[in-house]
Amino acid sequence: MSHILTSVEDGVLRLTLNRPEKKNALTNAMYSELAAGLERAESDPAIRAVLLEAEGDAFSAGNDLGDFAAVASGAADRRDMHSGKYLGALARAQKPYVVAVQGLAVGIGVTMLMHFDLVYIAEDAKLTTPFVNLALVPEAASSWLLPARIGHARAFAMFALGEAVDGKTAAAIGIANQALPKSEVRAKALAAAKALATRPSGALKATKQLMRDAAAIQATMNREAEIFGARLKTAEAAEAFTAFAERRAPDFTKISG
Ligand code: COA
Repeated sequence: MSHILTSVEDGVLRLTLNRPEKKNALTNAMYSELAAGLERAESDPAIRAVLLEAEGDAFSAGNDLGDFAAVASGAADRRDMHSGKYLGALARAQKPYVVAVQGLAVGIGVTMLMHFDLVYIAEDAKLTTPFVNLALVPEAASSWLLPARIGHARAFAMFALGEAVDGKTAAAIGIANQALPKSEVRAKALAAAKALATRPSGALKATKQLMRDAAAIQATMNREAEIFGARLKTAEAAEAFTAFAERRAPDFTKISG
């Protein structure tokens, strides 16, 4: 069964993360389907806006840690991971993208938000980017885009300390447009996407293009991916993923980086 639901409504392509029992952690297959959905949206003239949303009580717990562990142990090759396809599609985006976030968002569940033009979030949502705690580095060009948006100090606390940001704060510091009661977030995001679908698409596309540097975003993603891939194979990362699987806190103190 697919963990991504796809539908079209009034010119809006709706992509819905549908793996709630695993907090919508993103598997290789899900990245592939998301990338295909975005490619379809960009090439189909009937689609004028994209909405990403999630079923369940969490937006996304980030990359599936089982998939990371498989690369760390050598059971899988990082070159076969499809997260890069999804990130590349986000970097190249030309049509307007809207996202609805409720509950937990972790790792790429947060960093991908930097690529959406309108972000609606539940007041009690909880965003964390614990890359350093997982012995990893930021991805999705967030090493550049997150500090650019919220400042170095706040971004560093999120990346390095794993400090959480709630929905209200996310709206106040510019990660999201608006924080709403959880029950209203998806309807608000859908209404915004439908409104964008009625705007002149040429002007929208030109505006989005002027507001972001796609080549620089892709270049940053490439640099991050190189370091991220190397870090996945470190003893530090192996300890982090083993600790998650064993439901214990990692102990990095005996490993020197
Ligand atoms: N990858 C794979 N499985 C995940 C996952 C992930 N990133 N996040 C959650 N899950 C799974 C859990 O293993 C659990 O599966 P099980 O029911 O088969 O045991 C299920 O989803 C529910 O998660 P659980 O941990 O029981 O829920 P919780 O509410 O106590 O905690 C989180 C939720 C998101 C805080 C916690 O699961 C977590 O820290 N996940 C890892 C997040 C992460 O580090 N992501 C990568 C960032 S780069």
